[in-house]
Amino acid sequence: MRYRHDEWPSALAIVIGVLLVGCDQPSMERQPKYETFEAAPGWPHGQSAREPVPGTIAHDDTLKPIPDTQPQELDAALLDRGQQRYDIFCSPCHDRTGHGNGMVVQRGFPAPPTFHSERLRNAPLQHVVDVITNGFGVMYPYRDRVPVEDRWAIAAYIQALQLSQHTSVDDLPPAQRSELERASTGDTRREGNQ
Ligand code: HEC
Repeated sequence: MRYRHDEWPSALAIVIGVLLVGCDQPSMERQPKYETFEAAPGWPHGQSAREPVPGTIAHDDTLKPIPDTQPQELDAALLDRGQQRYDIFCSPCHDRTGHGNGMVVQRGFPAPPTFHSERLRNAPLQHVVDVITNGFGVMYPYRDRVPVEDRWAIAAYIQALQLSQHTSVDDLPPAQRSELERASTGDTRREGNQ
């Protein structure tokens, strides 16, 4: 086969192209690297995903330090805020009463433990704040969606939920106690509303 003169450049390009295909040098495109979440036996815990260096600040992190005690006064406004945030962010799994049977769970997500167990009733508020911040087991963290103040508000509201399911009559203020006693001793005017 003979090439015309004006065909030489393209013939040469084809030959060079074929030769280059044979080269398998590392390059920006082909280089030894870990895929996301790939196992890496040489690293601690065998994971290629590394923890950020202590003190690392993500560009969208709030620069306020995370307080390790209740930062605000625990009042009705804080509980209202906690209830609203809880219903938005937590109830899909933990359900509105904290028994752990939210809609997402009914559709197949692993069921969380009930908040009404002895262990979680006795857990400090800080535990819930930590779970929201860092996640827990299969529950992923909510630190990017729930600001620090709201974490405390939610934790306080969960404690209110726990009280709602586990309170002795003796803990009620006298006015409510006598109302309850009246209701249980024959004043049945409100029964129709139950
Ligand atoms: C997508 C579902 C889901 C959502 C939404 C969710 N959780 Fe969870 N949560 C779980 C599951 C599942 C567990 C159990 C995880 C495990 O044991 O592996 C859990 C566990 C917990 C625990 C118990 C930790 C312990 O000591 O046993 C707390 C407290 C908690 N979640 C709080 C929250 C709060 C507060 C929110 C809202 C900001 C929230 N969760 C939102 C699924 C969820």
